Amino acid sequence: MKIIKSISEMQAFSCEARSTGETIGFVPTMGYLHEGHMSLAREAKAKNAKSVLSIFVNPTQFGPSEDFAAYPRDMDGDLEKCEKARVDAVFVPDAGEMYPDGFSTHVDVAGVTDVMEGIRRPGHFRGVATVVLKLFNAVMPDRAYFGQKDYQQTVVIRRMTRDLNLDMEVVVMPTVRDPDGLAMSSRNAYLSGPERAAAPVIYKALSEAGKLYNTGERSAGVIAAKVREVIGGEPMVNIEYAEVSDAETLAPLRQIQTGAVLAVAARIGKTRLIDNILL
Ligand code: PAF
Repeated sequence: MKIIKSISEMQAFSCEARSTGETIGFVPTMGYLHEGHMSLAREAKAKNAKSVLSIFVNPTQFGPSEDFAAYPRDMDGDLEKCEKARVDAVFVPDAGEMYPDGFSTHVDVAGVTDVMEGIRRPGHFRGVATVVLKLFNAVMPDRAYFGQKDYQQTVVIRRMTRDLNLDMEVVVMPTVRDPDGLAMSSRNAYLSGPERAAAPVIYKALSEAGKLYNTGERSAGVIAAKVREVIGGEPMVNIEYAEVSDAETLAPLRQIQTGAVLAVAARIGKTRLIDNILL
């Protein structure tokens, strides 16, 4: 497994692979790898000649009062996991490599960032879209793999890829969950014992709302109210939003036809978690 720190070396690795007709599958991450990331790495490996995984905790997607400094990091453990998953190259640039002095270009994806996480975390998707485009330009993948847990992120990246004519495919893989339903996330590491015990209520609420949909309910208000009711029964969990939106445009829906996403954000103590299901 190659460990690559510079953009020029990353591009040289990818150019060489592409020159012999090899495809590249890419998994961008902020590290502290869990089974969700590794499922993406395995898919990238299975469907492409070469797999690349990046580890970069991107400062520009964290707000001033968010957890950039505290974000969990474990480079040695991450590299071991990548080695085990037979990742071909791990790209680990530092902040100076990604944002040299004088850096002043940003990617703003309008519309799909004006809802949900976008309005609660101003600047977040600008940071995500900018770093992901830079990572794409460094790795030059044929396919890039993202988890459904960060649903709005997948919509933003798909839109950017389409709008900017990037010649690659964005692949979205199902959310990987612990046996009790909690969506895997690096931020789960922040949860205390009692908080971790309370956290599965988020997926329980989504599942109960999903059952309502499956038995014919089509009112977005009724479905979102079910999520609030179930989460409201767990005093340790404070819901921030439960919203039903068009799965492609993320426009809020009143009545659900087909292709909707039910998304939730909630706080447990100091930890903010998100999750979603497709309806
Ligand atoms: O999903 C993440 O871990 C990050 O937002 C990403 C896509 C690696 C960009 O920093």
